[in-house]
Amino acid sequence: MAMIGQPLDRIDGRAKVTGAAKYAAEFRVPNAVHAVLVQSTIAAGSITGFDLKEASDMPGVLAIITPNNAGKLTHPENVPQAVAGPLLQNKDILFNGQHVALVVAETLEQAQSAASAVRLTYTRGEAATSMDAMLGQAYPPKHFRNGARPPDTSRGNADESFATGAVKMDATYVTPIEHHNPMEPHATIAAWDGDRVTVWTATQGISGVQSTLAGQFGIDKANVRAICPYVGAGFGSKGNTWPPATLAALAARTVRRPVKLVLSRSQMYTSNGYRPRTVQKLKIAAAADGALLSMRHDGFSSMSRPSLGEFAEPVALATEMLYACPNVAVTHRLVALNAALPTYMRAPGEASGVYALESAMDEMAVALKMDPIAFRLKNYAETDPHENKPFASKALRACYEQGARAFGWEKRSAEPRSMRDGNILIGWGFATSTYPTNRMPSAVKIRMEKDARVVLQCGTQDIGTGTYTVMTQVAADTLGIPMHHIRFELGDSNMPPGPVSGGSMTVASVSPSVQAACRALLDKIKDRAVAQPGWGGQSRDGLQLRDGQVVGIGQQISLATLLEHGPIEAEAKTQPGDEKKEFSMHAFGAQFAEVRVDPDLGEIRVSRYVGAFDGGNILNAKTARSQLIGGITYGIGMALHEETLVDQETGRIVNTNVAEYLMPVNADVPDIQTIIVPNDDKNSNPLGVKGIGELPMVGVAAAIANAVYHATGVRVRKVPIRIEDVL
Ligand code: MOS
Repeated sequence: MAMIGQPLDRIDGRAKVTGAAKYAAEFRVPNAVHAVLVQSTIAAGSITGFDLKEASDMPGVLAIITPNNAGKLTHPENVPQAVAGPLLQNKDILFNGQHVALVVAETLEQAQSAASAVRLTYTRGEAATSMDAMLGQAYPPKHFRNGARPPDTSRGNADESFATGAVKMDATYVTPIEHHNPMEPHATIAAWDGDRVTVWTATQGISGVQSTLAGQFGIDKANVRAICPYVGAGFGSKGNTWPPATLAALAARTVRRPVKLVLSRSQMYTSNGYRPRTVQKLKIAAAADGALLSMRHDGFSSMSRPSLGEFAEPVALATEMLYACPNVAVTHRLVALNAALPTYMRAPGEASGVYALESAMDEMAVALKMDPIAFRLKNYAETDPHENKPFASKALRACYEQGARAFGWEKRSAEPRSMRDGNILIGWGFATSTYPTNRMPSAVKIRMEKDARVVLQCGTQDIGTGTYTVMTQVAADTLGIPMHHIRFELGDSNMPPGPVSGGSMTVASVSPSVQAACRALLDKIKDRAVAQPGWGGQSRDGLQLRDGQVVGIGQQISLATLLEHGPIEAEAKTQPGDEKKEFSMHAFGAQFAEVRVDPDLGEIRVSRYVGAFDGGNILNAKTARSQLIGGITYGIGMALHEETLVDQETGRIVNTNVAEYLMPVNADVPDIQTIIVPNDDKNSNPLGVKGIGELPMVGVAAAIANAVYHATGVRVRKVPIRIEDVL
């Protein structure tokens, strides 16, 4: 039976629920000691002095590392997002919660206790904490999309054509700072052996950890080993190598012992990025028949002080390509604040940007008195209007149709406040979803042991998405041997390199290498068969592997016999081809939300949800459904719950815990119906996959906001939508 596509359980499921799966902080490294970070309590200024007397006299304290004694790290240009301040390289304070010292002690409790006894004196500077107050000083990003494209683009003339529209909208949408809050905190254990360092670290990218640490410590990449077999989710927060990983290695070098550094939940709010706040100005105009004439999307996202690095939320990329509109202009701007450096968070760009775009499209549909889906179909882009290329594949129309049918959309009455269940207002909202399809180089090593069992290795990660399981399925299918004879290993930089597990790229990048490595192994097995006495007349390509036998014409030999000569090994490396030159590559979806709003109390509940997705070929229907449910739940959080609150006086985040940072719990999440629209996108990569880690959360907040409008007649142009917004 073909394994690809089957809804198989995770092969690491048992290890996870029994605790056998080891996460970074759980490795037992002999002789390890503990480090605890000390953070600034002001948002701007500089450190004038440390009083370390009390802390250093406390029991078990081995070292207190401050900018006075940390020693210089190197910052070559190729270190991604080299972060200056929080690496204890100077005494500038650029945000509240910045790392200012590191206490190392024999036990965790001793380190925590001594960390709380470290005293600092500061001179205070003026802190910029309000994005709205600073909008006038916004500036264009210098390295937008790593320099791959400009931050502003336009086609036609959006401003002139706007004036000619029969129906127009012009509104500003705001999304808040959000934090990833993965279940597993950030953790690193670092151990040096001479000038070689090994780190067990919670990361979405061991290759990045390896190159970043090598750069910062000025050592060869081969002298850094990063190990991470399991990740308790990252959502983007573990995509970069953040200062705590570096500081753990710095501390280990200082005390000449292995050092473990685990962040507290509270520390994770200023240590490893967040989704920046965005202010997005949308202007759209259409002809009376609903044909789009003009779209303008000006996006502002909040940033740290520029010396910490740069991250610009790419909010307007979907606006360029999603609809057939002749005149489109988009811009991206940054607003520098005294805040930590933001970063990617699940569906970076699209989550915030499509919320605004699809809210604006709903406002247009209302103004045009058109059904929201009919309005999208009227402007359906058959080819990518921005890149002027065909889509590698696009089953968005089928997503609209199948989602609408499952939801019962045709029973919707258009008028706001027109659908009720007793006193309760019912709203039905819709939005489009899209996320780009990408791929990176990836290498895989494979070995068939003498017992015919197979081990594959790739330095990729399983961030909870199912990499172990899906890659084993691909190998089983390609080799034609049972899953339980195959072990897929990952999470060690000694293995052939894999890409960062981000941008929904893992399956598209790693599975082609798995397939290629398996094929290379099959060739070697057949070569060995053909080399057997009496097999001279057989051609390799005519042979087949069946039930543990290599079968030729009138000949067969068991794998066991062939393997008596020793194990067989192969390696493969695959990388993107020219597909991006030829095609525009994107995944798509249709989001349908029902909300129930109590008109007296303003309480908003999502009561029903349908999402239909074109994620290309789906390699495991069960892990895929988990991604879809997870993404939609993340979107419900964005719509109604999540918001990081910054005290404008002090620049301090006030809800640095999962009690006051609201997230959806089971009672907030209805039964979610997910529809996988069949597609097989061989134009994008050999397995035909598009990636579904981020797609399902895109558009959810808009679908819910549009449903809230339909229920109440109140257009809320910011998330999260709160009770007070609809009363
Ligand atoms: Mo994702 S935000 O690229 O981990």
